[in-house]
Amino acid sequence: MFSRALKPVTVVVAQNGKNFSTSSQRNFKVVVAGASGGIGQPLALLLKQNALVSHLALYDIAPVTPGVAVDLSHMNTPAKVTGHKGPEELANAIKGADVVVIPAGVPRKPGMTRDDLFNTNASIVRDLASCVAQVAPKAILAIITNPVNSMVPIASEVMKKVSKDDG
Ligand SMILES: NC(=O)c1ccc[n+]([C@@H]2O[C@H](COP(=O)([O-])OP(=O)(O)OC[C@H]3O[C@@H](n4cnc5c(N)ncnc54)[C@H](O)[C@@H]3O)[C@@H](O)[C@H]2O)c1
Repeated sequence: MFSRALKPVTVVVAQNGKNFSTSSQRNFKVVVAGASGGIGQPLALLLKQNALVSHLALYDIAPVTPGVAVDLSHMNTPAKVTGHKGPEELANAIKGADVVVIPAGVPRKPGMTRDDLFNTNASIVRDLASCVAQVAPKAILAIITNPVNSMVPIASEVMKKVSKDDG
């Protein structure tokens, strides 16, 4: 009777052993928003190699984004890669996502203050978080865009507001 109560647990240890999961799920949809940039492209390359990812959706406003997706899709790993460019393709990119990683925005350039960076990136993160709240409300949101300590509260408040408005 005791042995019947025990359920098998799959432990997946990825690559160097630092990342592991006690879940047997291996079909995560992961979105990179800002996928054509200096952070986004190598991040997408790493995610394409992760066996837990079944769908890697690359979103960016840059016109090269579908090409980035095609390049990555040549790698012989299970994840299907799709490219989405421009706001009209954002919802489709994010829909059903398990994880959304956001490196979208501008990096700090010489002469820019943190306020300048905030002014540009805040609206980008706001709009992306709003879309996540609408079409993938259960997704884990990971924010890379700087200043991170301001971007995270913006995303949090936007998601709370959208979920409240939706009842
Ligand atoms: N948290 C950290 O440790 C860390 C480390 C490095 C960089 N960063 C930050 O990450 C961000 C990106 O840096 P980067 O070097 O990749 O910059 P980048 O300019 O090379 O790339 C940014 C990308 O974001 C895209 N983008 C701009 N507006 C967008 C929007 N509305 N929707 C979707 N995509 C959009 C651009 O087209 C570009 O491809 C910066 O804010 C930078 O400061 C954070």
